[in-house]
Amino acid sequence: MDGQPLISKEIEDIHSSATPGETQPRLDFPPYRSSLLRHPTKDLRHVDPEGAELFAPVFGQSDVDVLEADLTIQAGGEPIGERITVRGRLIDGDGRPVRGQLIEVWQANSAGRYIHKRDQHPAPIDPNFTGVGRCLTDDDGNYLFTTIKPGPYPWRNHHNAWRPAHIHFSLFGTDFTQRMITQMYFPGDPLFALDPIYQSITDPAARDRLIAGYDHDESRHEWSMGYRWDIVLTGSHRTPMETEEDA
Ligand SMILES: [Fe+2]
Repeated sequence: MDGQPLISKEIEDIHSSATPGETQPRLDFPPYRSSLLRHPTKDLRHVDPEGAELFAPVFGQSDVDVLEADLTIQAGGEPIGERITVRGRLIDGDGRPVRGQLIEVWQANSAGRYIHKRDQHPAPIDPNFTGVGRCLTDDDGNYLFTTIKPGPYPWRNHHNAWRPAHIHFSLFGTDFTQRMITQMYFPGDPLFALDPIYQSITDPAARDRLIAGYDHDESRHEWSMGYRWDIVLTGSHRTPMETEEDA
Protein backbone atom coordinates (compact mmCIF):
# COMPACT_ATOMS: atom_id res chain seq x y z
CA MET A 1 0.00 0.00 0.00
CA ASP A 2 1.29 3.47 -0.82
CA GLY A 3 0.11 6.90 -1.92
CA GLN A 4 -3.21 8.18 -0.63
CA PRO A 5 -4.48 4.78 0.65
CA LEU A 6 -1.42 4.53 2.92
CA ILE A 7 -1.76 8.13 4.13
CA SER A 8 -5.48 7.64 4.78
CA LYS A 9 -4.79 4.42 6.72
CA GLU A 10 -2.18 6.15 8.86
CA ILE A 11 -4.60 9.02 9.59
CA GLU A 12 -7.32 6.55 10.52
CA ASP A 13 -5.02 4.65 12.87
CA ILE A 14 -3.90 7.81 14.67
CA HIS A 15 -7.44 9.13 15.00
CA SER A 16 -8.73 5.84 16.38
CA SER A 17 -6.21 5.95 19.23
CA ALA A 18 -6.36 9.70 19.88
CA THR A 19 -7.52 11.12 23.16
CA PRO A 20 -10.90 12.87 22.84
CA GLY A 21 -10.67 16.61 23.14
CA GLU A 22 -7.22 16.99 21.57
CA THR A 23 -8.03 20.22 19.79
CA GLN A 24 -4.72 21.57 18.50
CA PRO A 25 -2.73 20.21 15.52
CA ARG A 26 -0.17 17.55 16.34
CA LEU A 27 3.32 18.84 15.69
CA ASP A 28 4.64 15.35 14.94
CA PHE A 29 2.03 13.85 12.63
CA PRO A 30 3.67 11.13 10.47
CA PRO A 31 1.09 11.21 7.62
CA TYR A 32 2.25 14.83 7.16
CA ARG A 33 5.67 13.64 6.11
CA SER A 34 7.77 16.77 6.62
CA SER A 35 6.49 17.16 10.19
CA LEU A 36 8.60 14.12 11.13
CA LEU A 37 11.89 15.96 10.77
CA ARG A 38 10.95 19.54 11.44
CA HIS A 39 8.70 19.35 14.47
CA PRO A 40 10.19 20.85 17.64
CA THR A 41 11.82 18.29 19.91
CA LYS A 42 12.79 20.66 22.70
CA ASP A 43 10.83 23.02 24.86
CA LEU A 44 10.07 26.33 23.28
CA ARG A 45 12.53 29.05 24.16
CA HIS A 46 10.71 31.75 26.01
CA VAL A 47 11.43 35.24 24.88
CA ASP A 48 11.09 38.26 27.10
CA PRO A 49 8.23 40.16 25.40
CA GLU A 50 9.61 43.54 26.40
CA GLY A 51 13.03 42.59 25.07
CA ALA A 52 11.51 41.51 21.75
CA GLU A 53 9.87 44.90 21.44
CA LEU A 54 13.30 46.52 21.34
CA PHE A 55 14.20 44.94 18.01
CA ALA A 56 10.88 43.82 16.51
CA PRO A 57 9.34 45.92 13.76
CA VAL A 58 6.58 48.27 14.77
CA PHE A 59 3.50 49.44 12.95
CA GLY A 60 0.62 51.69 13.72
CA GLN A 61 -2.87 52.32 12.41
CA SER A 62 -1.52 54.57 9.67
CA ASP A 63 0.79 51.84 8.31
CA VAL A 64 -2.04 49.57 7.20
CA ASP A 65 -4.04 51.00 4.33
CA VAL A 66 -7.70 49.93 4.25
CA LEU A 67 -7.27 49.02 0.58
CA GLU A 68 -4.82 46.27 1.54
CA ALA A 69 -7.81 44.18 2.64
CA ASP A 70 -8.98 43.94 -0.97
CA LEU A 71 -6.84 41.41 -2.85
CA THR A 72 -8.74 42.03 -6.09
CA ILE A 73 -7.47 45.58 -6.69
CA GLN A 74 -3.73 45.20 -6.35
CA ALA A 75 -2.89 45.31 -10.05
CA GLY A 76 -4.14 46.97 -13.19
CA GLY A 77 -6.84 44.41 -13.88
CA GLU A 78 -9.26 42.02 -12.25
CA PRO A 79 -7.92 38.66 -11.06
CA ILE A 80 -9.51 35.55 -12.55
CA GLY A 81 -11.80 33.51 -10.32
CA GLU A 82 -14.76 33.57 -8.00
CA ARG A 83 -14.83 36.87 -6.09
CA ILE A 84 -15.54 36.33 -2.40
CA THR A 85 -15.62 38.23 0.84
CA VAL A 86 -14.47 36.67 4.09
CA ARG A 87 -15.78 38.40 7.19
CA GLY A 88 -15.40 37.47 10.81
CA ARG A 89 -14.65 38.53 14.35
CA LEU A 90 -11.49 38.07 16.34
CA ILE A 91 -12.54 37.34 19.91
CA ASP A 92 -11.03 36.03 23.11
CA GLY A 93 -12.28 33.03 25.05
CA ASP A 94 -14.96 35.12 26.77
CA GLY A 95 -16.34 36.44 23.50
CA ARG A 96 -14.79 39.88 23.90
CA PRO A 97 -13.60 41.63 20.72
CA VAL A 98 -9.87 41.83 20.10
CA ARG A 99 -9.48 45.31 18.66
CA GLY A 100 -6.87 46.84 16.39
CA GLN A 101 -5.11 43.53 15.72
CA LEU A 102 -3.09 42.97 12.58
CA ILE A 103 -4.49 40.11 10.48
CA GLU A 104 -2.44 39.02 7.47
CA VAL A 105 -3.59 36.53 4.84
CA TRP A 106 -1.89 34.71 1.99
CA GLN A 107 -3.31 32.24 -0.47
CA ALA A 108 -3.04 30.56 -3.85
CA ASN A 109 -4.86 32.01 -6.85
CA SER A 110 -8.00 30.50 -8.36
CA ALA A 111 -5.87 27.98 -10.25
CA GLY A 112 -4.16 26.82 -7.07
CA ARG A 113 -0.85 28.55 -7.81
CA TYR A 114 1.26 30.66 -5.46
CA ILE A 115 3.66 33.33 -6.64
CA HIS A 116 6.63 31.61 -5.02
CA LYS A 117 9.74 30.08 -6.53
CA ARG A 118 9.03 26.78 -4.79
CA ASP A 119 5.64 26.51 -6.48
CA GLN A 120 6.40 25.45 -10.05
CA HIS A 121 3.47 23.15 -10.78
CA PRO A 122 1.88 23.75 -14.18
CA ALA A 123 -1.02 26.01 -13.23
CA PRO A 124 -1.12 29.62 -14.43
CA ILE A 125 0.09 32.59 -12.44
CA ASP A 126 -2.45 35.40 -12.45
CA PRO A 127 -0.68 38.69 -13.19
CA ASN A 128 -3.45 40.52 -11.34
CA PHE A 129 -3.26 38.56 -8.12
CA THR A 130 -0.50 38.45 -5.52
CA GLY A 131 -2.48 36.49 -2.94
CA VAL A 132 -1.46 38.62 0.04
CA GLY A 133 -3.45 41.10 2.11
CA ARG A 134 -3.80 42.51 5.59
CA CYS A 135 -6.08 44.57 7.78
CA LEU A 136 -6.61 45.69 11.35
CA THR A 137 -9.64 44.56 13.31
CA ASP A 138 -12.11 47.31 14.11
CA ASP A 139 -13.39 48.30 17.56
CA ASP A 140 -15.73 45.31 17.63
CA GLY A 141 -13.01 42.86 16.53
CA ASN A 142 -14.32 42.60 12.94
CA TYR A 143 -12.23 41.98 9.88
CA LEU A 144 -13.21 41.78 6.21
CA PHE A 145 -11.22 40.65 3.18
CA THR A 146 -12.28 40.76 -0.45
CA THR A 147 -10.43 38.20 -2.53
CA ILE A 148 -10.69 35.35 -5.03
CA LYS A 149 -11.57 31.84 -3.92
CA PRO A 150 -8.31 29.89 -3.97
CA GLY A 151 -8.04 26.61 -5.85
CA PRO A 152 -6.79 23.31 -4.41
CA TYR A 153 -3.17 22.60 -5.24
CA PRO A 154 -0.82 19.60 -5.39
CA TRP A 155 1.99 19.17 -2.90
CA ARG A 156 4.68 16.55 -2.54
CA ASN A 157 3.66 14.83 0.66
CA HIS A 158 2.83 11.68 -1.30
CA HIS A 159 1.80 10.65 -4.81
CA ASN A 160 -1.24 12.61 -6.04
CA ALA A 161 -1.48 14.69 -2.84
CA TRP A 162 -3.75 17.75 -3.02
CA ARG A 163 -4.41 20.40 -0.41
CA PRO A 164 -8.03 21.48 0.14
CA ALA A 165 -8.58 25.12 -0.81
CA HIS A 166 -7.53 27.35 2.07
CA ILE A 167 -6.46 30.83 3.11
CA HIS A 168 -3.54 31.21 5.53
CA PHE A 169 -4.12 33.61 8.43
CA SER A 170 -1.52 35.23 10.68
CA LEU A 171 -2.60 37.06 13.82
CA PHE A 172 -0.49 39.27 16.01
CA GLY A 173 -1.44 39.65 19.62
CA THR A 174 -0.41 42.58 21.72
CA ASP A 175 3.25 41.96 20.89
CA PHE A 176 5.30 40.08 18.31
CA THR A 177 5.94 37.10 20.55
CA GLN A 178 2.25 36.22 20.39
CA ARG A 179 1.96 35.61 16.66
CA MET A 180 -0.42 32.80 15.74
CA ILE A 181 -0.90 31.15 12.36
CA THR A 182 -3.74 29.04 11.07
CA GLN A 183 -5.67 28.16 7.91
CA MET A 184 -9.29 28.76 6.93
CA TYR A 185 -11.06 26.24 4.72
CA PHE A 186 -14.23 26.29 2.60
CA PRO A 187 -17.34 24.23 3.36
CA GLY A 188 -17.91 20.92 1.61
CA ASP A 189 -14.38 20.39 0.31
CA PRO A 190 -13.97 16.77 -0.87
CA LEU A 191 -10.29 16.82 0.12
CA PHE A 192 -10.83 17.22 3.88
CA ALA A 193 -10.73 13.50 4.61
CA LEU A 194 -7.55 13.05 2.58
CA ASP A 195 -5.47 15.97 3.83
CA PRO A 196 -2.90 15.15 6.53
CA ILE A 197 -2.49 18.81 7.51
CA TYR A 198 -6.20 19.27 8.16
CA GLN A 199 -6.36 15.84 9.79
CA SER A 200 -3.41 16.56 12.11
CA ILE A 201 -6.10 17.91 14.44
CA THR A 202 -7.57 14.70 15.80
CA ASP A 203 -10.69 16.23 17.38
CA PRO A 204 -13.41 16.49 14.69
CA ALA A 205 -15.20 19.44 16.31
CA ALA A 206 -11.91 21.36 16.48
CA ARG A 207 -11.22 20.60 12.81
CA ASP A 208 -14.67 21.95 11.92
CA ARG A 209 -13.77 25.27 13.51
CA LEU A 210 -11.32 25.87 10.66
CA ILE A 211 -14.12 25.76 8.07
CA ALA A 212 -15.79 29.04 7.13
CA GLY A 213 -19.55 29.13 6.76
CA TYR A 214 -21.25 30.24 3.56
CA ASP A 215 -23.24 33.34 4.49
CA HIS A 216 -25.82 34.41 1.96
CA ASP A 217 -26.38 37.70 3.75
CA GLU A 218 -22.72 38.42 3.12
CA SER A 219 -23.00 37.68 -0.62
CA ARG A 220 -23.34 40.83 -2.72
CA HIS A 221 -25.83 41.12 -5.58
CA GLU A 222 -24.09 40.41 -8.90
CA TRP A 223 -20.70 40.85 -7.21
CA SER A 224 -19.38 38.29 -4.72
CA MET A 225 -20.02 35.22 -2.60
CA GLY A 226 -19.83 35.68 1.16
CA TYR A 227 -18.14 33.57 3.81
CA ARG A 228 -17.98 34.07 7.54
CA TRP A 229 -15.23 32.82 9.83
CA ASP A 230 -14.75 33.86 13.45
CA ILE A 231 -11.42 33.31 15.18
CA VAL A 232 -11.29 32.50 18.90
CA LEU A 233 -7.90 33.02 20.52
CA THR A 234 -8.33 31.21 23.82
CA GLY A 235 -10.62 28.92 25.79
CA SER A 236 -12.40 25.68 24.98
CA HIS A 237 -13.57 26.90 21.56
CA ARG A 238 -10.17 28.15 20.54
CA THR A 239 -9.42 28.08 16.81
CA PRO A 240 -6.70 25.48 16.13
CA MET A 241 -3.37 27.18 15.39
CA GLU A 242 -0.10 26.07 13.81
CA THR A 243 3.32 26.64 15.24
CA GLU A 244 4.96 26.80 11.84
CA GLU A 245 3.84 28.12 8.49
CA ASP A 246 2.68 25.31 6.27
CA ALA A 247 2.62 24.87 2.58
FE1 LIG B 1 -1.19 26.99 1.36
